Amino acid sequence: MATTQTALALTTIAAPLTKIELPIPTPKGNEVLLRVTAAAIAPFDQKLRDYGLFNIGSRLPAVLALDLVGVVEGYSSTISNELKTKFPTGTHIFVQANLFNPLGGGLQQYTTVDPTFAAAVPKSVSDVAAASFPINAFTSFASLFSDEGGEHRGLGIPFPGTPGAEEFDYKGTTVMILGGGTRCGKLAIQFAKIAGIGRVLTTAGKGSKGELERLGASVVFDRGLEEGKLVEEVRKVTGGELAYVYDTMSTGKDQELGVKLLGGKKKGFFVTLLEGEVDEGVLKEKDVEKWQMTGVSGMHPSAAAVMWGNIGEWVGSGLEGGGFKVVEGLDLEKANATMDAYRDGGFERIEIHQDFKMATQIHIVTVGKDKQKEKDVLTRLTKDVEKQYTLVHVAHCESLNVVKHVLTSLIVPPKLLICSPNIFDEEQEEIREIANRVLPDMKLVMVPNDLDLKDKEKSQGLLEYLKEQVESRF
Ligand SMILES: NC(=O)c1ccc[n+]([C@@H]2O[C@H](COP(=O)([O-])OP(=O)(O)OC[C@H]3O[C@@H](n4cnc5c(N)ncnc54)[C@H](OP(=O)(O)O)[C@@H]3O)[C@@H](O)[C@H]2O)c1
Repeated sequence: MATTQTALALTTIAAPLTKIELPIPTPKGNEVLLRVTAAAIAPFDQKLRDYGLFNIGSRLPAVLALDLVGVVEGYSSTISNELKTKFPTGTHIFVQANLFNPLGGGLQQYTTVDPTFAAAVPKSVSDVAAASFPINAFTSFASLFSDEGGEHRGLGIPFPGTPGAEEFDYKGTTVMILGGGTRCGKLAIQFAKIAGIGRVLTTAGKGSKGELERLGASVVFDRGLEEGKLVEEVRKVTGGELAYVYDTMSTGKDQELGVKLLGGKKKGFFVTLLEGEVDEGVLKEKDVEKWQMTGVSGMHPSAAAVMWGNIGEWVGSGLEGGGFKVVEGLDLEKANATMDAYRDGGFERIEIHQDFKMATQIHIVTVGKDKQKEKDVLTRLTKDVEKQYTLVHVAHCESLNVVKHVLTSLIVPPKLLICSPNIFDEEQEEIREIANRVLPDMKLVMVPNDLDLKDKEKSQGLLEYLKEQVESRF
């Protein structure tokens, strides 16, 4: 294996990144070696590059892009068995790189990370899509649910299943998310919904109203309204009773809006992501506690354990992280241009993709009489073709009678229907007819009846047959 690699690194604060050669790092402590496949360049990276936040200037050269995805290729000799078992080599994981490891970011071919707070990328999601989650998802999760982190804590709403949850009235709680149109805002809306919070209010540009309602917002207020009018509109909904505000985007005196909205019988909690200027006297008078979140998993270990334990499943079931544009490879010019655009007020997110063998995703429906055996064969097939294809088994039909209903009820139309050998010729013909009528573009594999699922040898033959079919059709 090579010992050096290419990286896009920050070598001087307030100057463009440069392309340099770095040693391939050796994992230490609880770290794994990752071959980076995707990394997201976030507005925070531009702030690190241009303003040297978190004193990064004292740790140059530094590799940025802390949201990353990579394939586990090796371990530190001292890594815990638990982590080694959880993430076998070859696992694609998404993770938030350690800001204080200057060479830990994603703008290089290899990096090392501690995967204590990481998750395997779900089969149904590409690496670039997974790279859009780590920092924003954790920041918003912690902003709602963490009471750790000192002055960088969150609202401290107990997440269901954690201490304090049993006494918490989720349905009767209202949360206001100021700046719901940001990626952090959208994730917060979805997390509030997952937690079962009764009313999720938010502010956003007019164009985002429909999207935020679809994600779970109860009421979306126009963030362009004059402040007095906005406060009045919100009070009409809350009746003046609001104990939780999370502000994703305001800075300076604009953060006073959050304090104005809080009020009522309960103590107020206000969490922001950015620096603000809110009068301490006003906070005291209104009985409001205000904190500025730092979305670093290690600072909120309890919330991090919950979020990283669930995020794979949530992302796999459709959690949305926000749109992005993909750049292939470590393109220095495009990486710097992305950061320049953030500096100049742009919001378009760029993700660097370095794994050129992107798997084709195929949603599959099966029809057959032995669900478990069919599932087993499909699991083996998924593994066999995983380098080329990501197979996602979206539904199983136990009989001909339900085929039409299943095919018409799926939101994403499946690309392939596999009809098991235990469905005989006549029924196979009927299924073919239904499928062609309902989803004419879907490909059909009618497995010959002699490839018996019960027979071990034949089930190997069945696997080979299916592999051939998938490879020849996609
Ligand atoms: N403290 C931390 O640990 C932490 C962690 C992550 C991010 N951050 C910071 O949090 C901020 C949000 O990050 P993000 O990536 O989620 O943002 P983003 O996705 O880049 O936000 C873009 C969206 O924000 C909305 N917007 C624009 N101007 C706004 C304003 N003045 N007030 C409210 N909304 C506005 C727009 O949507 P609409 O038109 O739909 O409203 C826009 O599409 C960034 O400054 C980021 O650096 C901090």
